Amino acid sequence: MIIVLLGPPGTGKGTQAKAITTRHRLPHVSTGDILRKNLADGSELGLEAKAYMEKGELVPDHLILRLIDSRLSEPDASGGCLLDGFPRTRVQAEAFDGDLSAKGLSIDHVLLLEVASEALIKRLSGRRVCETCGKSYHVDFNPPPAECHCGGAIVQRPDDTEEAIKNRLKVYQELTKPLVDYYEAKGLLRRVDGDATPQEVEKRIARALGDPV
Ligand code: AP5
Repeated sequence: MIIVLLGPPGTGKGTQAKAITTRHRLPHVSTGDILRKNLADGSELGLEAKAYMEKGELVPDHLILRLIDSRLSEPDASGGCLLDGFPRTRVQAEAFDGDLSAKGLSIDHVLLLEVASEALIKRLSGRRVCETCGKSYHVDFNPPPAECHCGGAIVQRPDDTEEAIKNRLKVYQELTKPLVDYYEAKGLLRRVDGDATPQEVEKRIARALGDPV
């Protein structure tokens, strides 16, 4: 099964990914997480992506398509995956469809998480993450401990500054939102209201996927 998680920054894609991947026994493929890992490792890809990410711009399509191609050729993704943060442009979506159809595969569901912009700014500016395991917290909604359960330091993501958040939301509107129509026209889009507690959103997603709740 191939599921795409779509939605503006801060809608809870990363937060919800764990429950979906556990239920469907799928690997969680987050292009943002892979890029951040490359950045931390100082790889060539990480160095190329750094400036784009810090400003809240999208990393160029050709780099993302190479990254996805390599990740999806790993054995754990042979039975499908949950894609979080990919595709994010029309070029990425069309290239991905082409690759899948060449393999006789296709996307099963596209889940669109919807949350009002004001709430997104609050979620992103209050987000804190573990530098080691990537676990996400929120200063008000899910206060982080002094130190993560894995022993890692709790930090703020460099792209969670006010300026970068504004830019990320603008970039979403311009380059990623058009994918809503693209997938709706294909009959794949499932809209989920993400403005509720994480537990309630988890149930809404399960219902949208036809899973037992
Ligand atoms: P990426 O890491 O994908 O970031 P994003 O899409 O901006 O999404 P976020 O991780 O910010 O938000 P989320 O929806 O996962 O929310 P979360 O669950 O953390 O990408 C980062 C960058 O990498 C991009 O800007 C770009 O530069 C580059 N990139 C990545 N993919 C790319 C691609 N395909 N093409 C080009 N460039 C690419 O939740 C947010 C906060 O809200 C947390 O604090 C959480 O605790 C809280 N929260 C979650 N759910 C709830 C709830 N229900 N109620 C209250 N609080 C909640």
